[in-house]
Formats: sequence, structure tokens, C-alpha cells
Amino acid sequence: SSEMLYVFQPSAQPAELDEWLALLAARGGGSSLIRLGPTPVIATTDTVEITAPARLPRPVATVRVTGGVRLTRREVRPEGTVVSIGPARIGDGRLAVFAGPCAVESREQMDAVVSTVAAGNGVVGLRGGAFKPRTSPYAFHGLKWSGLDLLQEAREKTGLPILTEVVDTRHVERVAEIADAFQIGARNMQNFELLREVGETGRPVVLKRGFGCTVDETLSAAEYILAAGNDQVILCERGIRTFEHATRFTLDISAVALLKQRSHLPVMVDPSHSTGLPNLVAPVSLAAVAAGADALLIDVHAQPEQALCDGAQALRPSGFHELMGRLEMLVLGLGRDVS
Ligand code: E4P
Ligand code: PEP
Repeated sequence: SSEMLYVFQPSAQPAELDEWLALLAARGGGSSLIRLGPTPVIATTDTVEITAPARLPRPVATVRVTGGVRLTRREVRPEGTVVSIGPARIGDGRLAVFAGPCAVESREQMDAVVSTVAAGNGVVGLRGGAFKPRTSPYAFHGLKWSGLDLLQEAREKTGLPILTEVVDTRHVERVAEIADAFQIGARNMQNFELLREVGETGRPVVLKRGFGCTVDETLSAAEYILAAGNDQVILCERGIRTFEHATRFTLDISAVALLKQRSHLPVMVDPSHSTGLPNLVAPVSLAAVAAGADALLIDVHAQPEQALCDGAQALRPSGFHELMGRLEMLVLGLGRDVS
């Protein structure tokens, strides 16, 4: 069904917005006031654009929409959203790299990897899973709360903010006490209760695309977080399931450009989980940045052969540094900058 969105300046007053709602109600359509961060938006089923008396604020944009997504649309915030994770800004035009091990395994493992990624120019945050969603119930599922303690130590040592996955609504509050940003994994992209809960915290969220989900479904999932009042969302393309098994998943490079066109939210790419092959991490990272990615999420491990999760796809520190050098050159060539 079609709707019309009226997008206002944050300065629009509640009483003025109430008058707008009354004007629309008088025409018989169903209308509601929603917000994209500080931006008030009225959504109405009346798709004939109306003009209000001059004393009322005029909308900065009116958008006709269909398909159940409102606040994620590029037209609602054409200038784009900048997401703040600790001191890092994602979506401001610079390239933001998050790096670290797939899973937090021990203090020694974290020390070995964290010192090397922290030394890398352009790294804005640490990744590391304390709660790991695994295919097999017998696989390593992470150090859980003690993993979060190690992440906290890593932040203290490096000054870098931490991004870590939350897998359960019951954990959201406690993870929010430690993590600078939540990661919602591919397997949970359509866990709508989890989306709502992280939305309510207002804490930044990296939302990974489900490997069996379309671009529209991804935007719809993000809409849950935005609708809960949280506009600090980064969309992450991490590969989809196709017939091609030479790579772990198939990175949908066109989705990167498409998401940037369709939505104002920053886009991240995970070249590690998508390819599953360390030799492909560098070329795919370069392609992602050329396609418009704002950020990259890269697995790095000092001893990949000993990793307890996804070692086969991790870059060694040397490979990671080499990649950072190549990314810096590409980004400069694109007229952008590394963070
Ligand atoms: C890692 O980050 C995920 O938990 C992992 O990719 C899950 O995959 P697997 O359990 O099939 O190894
Ligand atoms: C991860 O990045 O740790 C992860 C579990 O990836 P995905 O959810 O994309 O499989």
C-alpha cells in the first residue's frame, strides 16, 4: 500500500506537528508521527500532497513510498547518516576499518592481534565475538561474558572502540554496558525482537545481511531498529548463499552500491566471512571500497591455524598491513580519505 512521508526540520514543534496531523486526519487518511533520530516524519495513507497554512512549518521533503520501509530511505535523509562508534565516525566520507579476531579466545590471543591492528593506520575499531552463533551445537560458541571482559581490556589498551555480536534479547542490556556497538549477525538479521531491543538502547548497530535475504528484506530489518528510535545503524553486506561454493558465500557487490542509493545508512562490507579465503580478502576489500562501502570488517588472527573459529579466512597481521596500505592508496585515488 502507498503512503506519503512528510519530513520536517528537527526544529518543528510538537504543537505544530499536531496541527499537521489534524489537517491530515480531517482528510480521512490514517497518519502517525515517527522520528528518524531528531527528524520528525509524518507518515500518512493520504498520498495526495497537501499544503498547510503558512504559519506551520513546511516539510523539507515529501516522499511517496510503498513496500513497508520508511525511515531507512535515502530521500528521508539525502545527505546520509553518520554513525558514531566511540570516537569513530562511519559514513562521513572516510573509510572506516574494523578489524580483529572472529572470536575472542584468550588474553594472549587478543594481545597478539590487537597490538597489530591498533598499529594500523585507518583502523577505527576492534571486532571480536564473545557470543558465537555456530552451525554445530558442539563447536566453540565463544567465551561469552569473560570474552566481553577481554574486549574491554583490549579497548583500554588500544583506545579503540569495540564492536561485538549480541545473539539474545536477554543479553542486550548487559552487552550494552560494555560494547561500543552491537553486531547483529547474519543468522539473526530477521530476529525481530532482537532488532527491537537493540533499537531501544540507542547504541550503534552493525546489521549483517542474512545470507538468504534480499536487499529489501535487509532494509526492512534495519527499519525495525530505526522505528524503535535508533538511527545509528550500519548495514553490512557479508555474502549470500548461491550455487557457487568455491567461495564460502558470494559477495553481492551490487548490493553495496544499491544500498547506498536506496538508503542513507552507511554500508560496511565483510570480505572475510563472504569469501572465506584469505587470498580473496584484499581484492574483495578493494572492490567493496570502489563500489562505495563506507566501512570494512576484517578478520585478523596472529595464528590463523590455531583459531577456534573461522581461522581459514583470517588475515595474518602482515597481510592485513599490506592491505591497509593498498586501501589507503585506493581511497586517496577516489578522493576520499582513511579515518
Ligand atoms: C563466525 O563468525 C560464525 O559464528 C561462523 O561463521 C559460523 O559458521 P560455522 O559455525 O558454520 O563455522
Ligand atoms: C561475525 O562477523 O562474527 C559473524 C558471525 O558473521 P556473520 O553473522 O556474517 O556470519
